[in-house]
Amino acid sequence: MCGIVGYCGKEPAAPIILEGLKCLEYRGYDSAGIASICDGEMLVKKDAGKIDEVERKQGIGCLPGNIAIGHTRWATHGAVTQANAHPHSDCHGRLAVVHNGIIENYQQLRQELIDRGHHFTSETDSEVIPHLIAEKMEGDSYSLEKAVLAVMPRLEGSYAFVTLAIDDPGKIVGARKNNPLVVGSGSHGNYIGSDALAFARHTRKAISLGDNEVVVMTPDKAEFFDAAGNAFSKQPRELDENWANNCKDGYEHFTLKEIMEQPCAIDRAALQDGKKFNSIALDILRAGQVVFTACGTSRYAALVGRYLFSRVGKKFSEVANASEFGYFVDSIDKNTVVIAVSQSGETADVIEGVWAARDVGAKIVSIINRPNSMLEELSHHTIYLKCGPEVGVAATKTFLSQVAVFYLLSFSLVNAFDEAVEHLGDMSGKVAEAIECNNSNLINLAQKLKDKNDFYYLGRGINFSIATEGALKLKEVAYVHAEGMPAGELKHGTLALIEQGTPVVVVCPDDYTYGETLSNAMEAKSRRAYIIGVSDRESDIFDFWVEVPRVDELLYPMVTIVPLQLLAYHMALARGYNPDKPRNLAKSVTVK
Ligand code: F6R
Repeated sequence: MCGIVGYCGKEPAAPIILEGLKCLEYRGYDSAGIASICDGEMLVKKDAGKIDEVERKQGIGCLPGNIAIGHTRWATHGAVTQANAHPHSDCHGRLAVVHNGIIENYQQLRQELIDRGHHFTSETDSEVIPHLIAEKMEGDSYSLEKAVLAVMPRLEGSYAFVTLAIDDPGKIVGARKNNPLVVGSGSHGNYIGSDALAFARHTRKAISLGDNEVVVMTPDKAEFFDAAGNAFSKQPRELDENWANNCKDGYEHFTLKEIMEQPCAIDRAALQDGKKFNSIALDILRAGQVVFTACGTSRYAALVGRYLFSRVGKKFSEVANASEFGYFVDSIDKNTVVIAVSQSGETADVIEGVWAARDVGAKIVSIINRPNSMLEELSHHTIYLKCGPEVGVAATKTFLSQVAVFYLLSFSLVNAFDEAVEHLGDMSGKVAEAIECNNSNLINLAQKLKDKNDFYYLGRGINFSIATEGALKLKEVAYVHAEGMPAGELKHGTLALIEQGTPVVVVCPDDYTYGETLSNAMEAKSRRAYIIGVSDRESDIFDFWVEVPRVDELLYPMVTIVPLQLLAYHMALARGYNPDKPRNLAKSVTVK
């Protein structure tokens, strides 16, 4: 949540920052701002609104200077106002800071600073940082980096921040604790960002800052220091070429582009190292217990994983909601394998649970999309989805890639990794078929249903996870109340809500759950629900048939989820919303 970018070098900095902020808008889009230094003057422009609006109103991309920092905000402390937008400054406007995270003891720090004569202009927790740094620079004549190092121990909570100051010009200093910060070095200068995506067009050489480390960036070099101020060196990692492409490629929205990329995403997810999968499979088989921890879409993918582990590998596992996982750590031990599933690799709820599990000796396997993440640092094994950046806030192609990875992992439990790769080889064509057959029909369906307020999604077994994920997509992008549930649960309460015309989406491919799921659908139909069947086999019960290609039972999730993503997308458009940037949401949820 919140995106940070910084640049110092030979080029005009603000346009680079603006472009970087646009790449990080997935992290928050309430407000934005840039600070630059030019001719010894600190220039700050910021406002509430999405980046394009702020650019139109304030011209943030036109600030002069070759050194600048910028921020795109997802509000935590303080309303969405110009005053609360970053960058924040000290009392005299001599330094600027952009921050991602939460300073938990900010009230105490703020009071102390006010007592010492400081004036605050925002309601944010972040604003204490520039005031604290300024005190050290003014009172103790510290350099910017020395002041940052002195302030870090005073900050409780989590942070990634970068700062620049007119009293120590020509450098950007960045620091991190439990929030990501990546440094990029290029031939025209040095870059820093919450995600390498912010500068991937300029350089693919990226270095992740570690917790309690500080970077001092000048146009020519980036130097790293530990919390005690000792310098050390870090080697850059080359970013995957795929990671640099974050254009819409002619699609109206990233969400649609990413849905359409799914045939290719399956092929990429299948490019895994069989030996590594076999070694993880051994750990899983030997473990006394296996627990998935994840949030949102990643948790629904984990439900598919749990099913596949049981059905293919005969290994029982449990899926924990990551924000609740920490409360069960008493029963985690060194015989536990924790599988942390997170597209971003930085979801605070996931990270916190993983820390707790590591502390008691559990083995951590993570399944991640974004490179250089904190979750990777905490894991014994990491599997990458390899599907490139997902910019739309609603997860689409990463869900499918997670499902593909679970398919490979479950077959590895029975020593059949190669067989699984072969099966996945046919799936990109099937997924493409699921898109082609349904896209235009779903536009019509969305038009028909756009004014409905409640949807219910049903499925059994492996299809239950698809029901829940389908419902989540509709909620997120079209702002329609939707519930996904095991089909058998309907009669235990929710049936009371079904009335004439209520849309009920029934995920019922022609597997061994088909008959029973249809009986549950019939219970809704008898109360005059409007039944949308997602299946390769037609039924009289369906009022609308979303036909999917016939595939093996264990691969159905890959073809059934795609039309549900498209339905949510078209519903968003039919209701007049931008599916790429759902209100109140951010893609990386780095607060608890
Ligand atoms: C849904 C969505 C969220 C994320 C959740 C976990 O479309 O995007 O529900 O799935 O916030 O995020 P990651 O996977 O990054 O841990």
